[in-house]
Amino acid sequence: MDKNELILSSKLKLRQSNLNEQLADNLYKCLFNCNNQIITIDMIEEYNKKLTKIIKGEPIQYVISNANFYGYDLQVNNDVLIPRFETEELVYYTLKYIKSIFNNKISIVDIGTGSGAIAITLKKEMPELVVYATDISDKAITVAQKNASALNADITFLSGDMLKPLENKKFDVIISNPPYLKKEQEIEKVVIDNEPIMALYGGIDGLKYYKKILKGAKKVLKKRSLICLEISEEIKEGIEKIIIKYFNSSRYEFKKDMSGRTRMLFIFNNIE
Ligand SMILES: C[S@@+](CC[C@H](N)C(=O)[O-])C[C@H]1O[C@@H](n2cnc3c(N)ncnc32)[C@H](O)[C@@H]1O
Repeated sequence: MDKNELILSSKLKLRQSNLNEQLADNLYKCLFNCNNQIITIDMIEEYNKKLTKIIKGEPIQYVISNANFYGYDLQVNNDVLIPRFETEELVYYTLKYIKSIFNNKISIVDIGTGSGAIAITLKKEMPELVVYATDISDKAITVAQKNASALNADITFLSGDMLKPLENKKFDVIISNPPYLKKEQEIEKVVIDNEPIMALYGGIDGLKYYKKILKGAKKVLKKRSLICLEISEEIKEGIEKIIIKYFNSSRYEFKKDMSGRTRMLFIFNNIE
């Protein structure tokens, strides 16, 4: 088979796999990433393997080891959650609030950083921020460190349970997208089969990590500070009770995402 025949046969296979033509073309570009180079038999085999995984339902981001977040390319594998669109909105509003609230050099910590998506984006978008990121999973930290280094983002990574690695430190902002599914909550099979369980579940009621963060937050926050959390609509009421317990005199705001679901919480600690 010559090069043209190989290209044609690989494109045909994609088309025959019940994908529409445009999706087939895009997948072909993602999988091969080799517009003008010679395609070898090994590459076709590799491509076939990847195609089979996609057809079986594995998320394409894991298959091509890449996810785009806020315009930045991140390496992902099964040790980290694939960063989601909603989280881009959390980052967007966090940047907006930071710019309007603080005028000095501020420090921020991303709790449960996973691929590093939030921490890296914040640092790239506002290089003057001092950024820390934590995770309990050393494998996740390894992925996040590689992503930060590939994107030239200077971030301090710490390994450990929630706020524990931050003892004796004080931040202006905490941001987190903690695991928040309820223990018995049904979710798509593709998520359960592929994404790390420790990135998904937040105890019986989905509130375990919000309790931990909000209970300990004041110890690692400066007097005037901001907390930015991704949440799910189902646990909004439960979270409100935790806010009243630990931040009863602070103003707070739930925000909806672009599809109209309540997905973000901002707590303004000693900020009017
Ligand atoms: C929902 S994922 C979010 C990942 C990433 N921040 C994002 O938004 O794409 C939650 C992350 O919290 C981490 N995690 C779970 N339990 C933790 C704990 N006790 N302490 C710190 N991180 C934890 C998981 O390893 C996972 O990376």
